[in-house]
Amino acid sequence: MGCVLLFNRLLPFSHRFTRTSIGLLSLLLSYLCYCALFPADTIMQKAGDLTPSCQWVPADGAKRRLQKSFSCVLPLDARPSSVEASRLKTDQRASSTHNVARNDTPSPPMGYVKFGNKKLPNAIIVGVKKGGTRAVLEFIRIHPDVRAAGTETHFFDRNYDRGLEWYRGLMPRTLESQITMEKTPSYFVTKETPHRISAMSRDTKLIVVVRDPVTRAISDYTQTLSKTPDLPSFQELAFRNQTLGIVDTSWNAIRIGLYALHLENWLHYFPLAQIHFVSGERLITDPAGELARVQDFLGLKRIVTDKHFYFNRTKGFPCLKKPESSGSPRCLGKSKGRTHVQIDRDAIEQLRDFYRPYNVKFYEMVGHDFKWE
Ligand SMILES: *[C@@H]1O[C@H](CO)[C@@H](O)[C@H](O)[C@H]1NC(C)=O
Ligand SMILES: *[C@@H]1O[C@H](CO)[C@@H](O)[C@H](O)[C@H]1NC(C)=O
Repeated sequence: MGCVLLFNRLLPFSHRFTRTSIGLLSLLLSYLCYCALFPADTIMQKAGDLTPSCQWVPADGAKRRLQKSFSCVLPLDARPSSVEASRLKTDQRASSTHNVARNDTPSPPMGYVKFGNKKLPNAIIVGVKKGGTRAVLEFIRIHPDVRAAGTETHFFDRNYDRGLEWYRGLMPRTLESQITMEKTPSYFVTKETPHRISAMSRDTKLIVVVRDPVTRAISDYTQTLSKTPDLPSFQELAFRNQTLGIVDTSWNAIRIGLYALHLENWLHYFPLAQIHFVSGERLITDPAGELARVQDFLGLKRIVTDKHFYFNRTKGFPCLKKPESSGSPRCLGKSKGRTHVQIDRDAIEQLRDFYRPYNVKFYEMVGHDFKWE
């Protein structure tokens, strides 16, 4: 209709400039303005819940993903800024609402397709506390073939009575081709866990992020201290008798670092080939290298690469360029912004002596020297 009006008005416009034509033209312009502005307004209110979830992947995998999953995927180089991203969302909402208006058959907008089913996890990050488990999960879930539960489920240690269907309910929807993951660091040191996970599936892939047990224990203590300021000193908790160098292995911060003992328990239920060990130290110095190995272990194409990381020199930790689901950069060692408490050198030496045989045993078991000293 607008076009017909426009034509009728433009022809006489050339030879006769009347008051009526000006009036009609301004009417037409108002109509066009209305069309352009009004729908955008209603869309914002109507489709507020249809937030597409987007994952950024590098160009090589993007085409394949788009065809396969309908998820909102853009090549890394074409990655929009946050302003552009929100405009993109609005555009998607706009097209979807127009479809609804025209066809009367609501079709979900691109990126919001409620696809797939909730599956029990194929891979679990089982430990260890303060090793860097959160970072590994955040880094690996950039991969378009990985979907992960957002929070620690504690199913196999604290919530096992709730049953597998409860556990499945905590998982995100996935496509057939996608891997479901979760992480709960206490699994590695809980006696019942290996048996329970193998009862769910003997094919479950297990990832353990390990770190020098002495620095891990200090980091663990520092975290507890920040929540419980009246905690006894590290030395008081770590030693039964420091003069004699008798370490208190019943203290959790010490016990968690006895990796060889915990691993022995797991190897009763899982072959070593099904357990992948991530070095918490190398995760800081070479996150892309560690993530390459994790992707290989999970049978994934290497899509998470050094393009996804930058090193924040102030922080001293690597950060993700574009974390999923949040605008701020996600860095390793975020909660470690607090400085470690000072532990005297003797105590540290005593703990190193204590852990050394366990570490050597652990290196032998996994066939890799983590070089903690
Ligand atoms: C530690 O052992 C030494 C030597 O046997 C002893 O003198 C001291 O009382 C012990 N300290 C504690 C806290 O048990
Ligand atoms: C690096 O870390 C510092 C300290 O946490 C922070 O203030 C700064 O914004 C970060 N820089 C970048 C580029 O992420």
